[in-house]
Amino acid sequence: MMSKKKIFSGIQPSGLLTLGNYIGAMRQFVELQDEGDCIFCVVDLHALTVPQDPVALRNNVRSLAALFLAVGIDPQKSKLIVQSQVKEHAELGWLMQCVSHMGELERMTQFKDKSTGKDVVTSALFTYPALMAADILLYDTTHVPVGEDQKQHLELTRDIAGRFNNRFGTTFVVPEPMIPKVGGRVMSLDDPTKKMSKSNPNEGSYIALLDEPAKIIKKIKRAVTDSENEIRFDVENKPAISNLLTIYSFCANASVEDLVSRYQGVGYGTFKSELAEAVVQFLAPVQARYRELVESDELDRILLTGAEHASAFAEKKMIDVKEKMGLIPREKLSTLTR
Ligand code: AQP
Repeated sequence: MMSKKKIFSGIQPSGLLTLGNYIGAMRQFVELQDEGDCIFCVVDLHALTVPQDPVALRNNVRSLAALFLAVGIDPQKSKLIVQSQVKEHAELGWLMQCVSHMGELERMTQFKDKSTGKDVVTSALFTYPALMAADILLYDTTHVPVGEDQKQHLELTRDIAGRFNNRFGTTFVVPEPMIPKVGGRVMSLDDPTKKMSKSNPNEGSYIALLDEPAKIIKKIKRAVTDSENEIRFDVENKPAISNLLTIYSFCANASVEDLVSRYQGVGYGTFKSELAEAVVQFLAPVQARYRELVESDELDRILLTGAEHASAFAEKKMIDVKEKMGLIPREKLSTLTR
């Protein structure tokens, strides 16, 4: 009998969630809920790898948790947790740093992207993939749904798990990435060669899931297009229009082929205004549900249940990991009465 999938994935509360995060990652989370035991995580410790304003971070954590639920994460089926509320993430993160190598961390393109041109770079930004490995390995995760940009980090997680198992005996499950074939890399509205990113200082480069209709319309109107006034899907020669078609396809639940034939001979202006309408319609129910949840006690209850469930598993896992590495878990000390 095939054993049930164990699914884990996280998102950083590092800004307003974008359509890129939704199309590349969250959409899959929602679909996978019936396929296995799922834990979805607000990875707040990862957000601290770059400077954060404490008040803004606290708001972003709540906001992201509410958005997970608003897009369709069902707490009856999946667990929703905040990373820092399950202390074993940080603890295993340190142990994973002790088995990862400088050379492999130096090869991570996300570190290069995020550190280039910065005056100050934290050591945590450099060791981030070791914490990400810990997040995943802590729960014996079998599958990790992520966007394409996380592929390299996932490969490193697999290497670290394999290395640990070889050295200390089988302890961790080596997880499989799940990267969507379409929509795994949604591009920026101002530059279709760069991925859409919530921490991009240019707000016009992304559509946030909580953007108001007027803002969405304005951003799409200003989105860069390619030369020639033709709507066709051709990532190499028409990357901007192809990106807009991908977004349109997900928001309107229509195939790219249907959209291309619908817009034959129609100019960019009409295409963009109908795309904007589709995005606004798509986000309206998500935004309404979000507003109900964000300040509710219901959200706190869901997070608490998630943290308790995750901690119960993580505590046991840590005893095994520590013993394998030669540490003495507190749980194994004889008590004073013995
Ligand atoms: N543009 C994108 N297209 C498809 N998938 C994407 N993801 C992010 N951007 C795109 C996926 O969203 C998940 C959460 O990502 P994250 O918040 O942990 O960090 P990230 O990958 O670095 O995403 P951002 O939006 O670019 O955040 P910042 O700007 O804070 O770094 C991941 O599964 C990711 O693949």
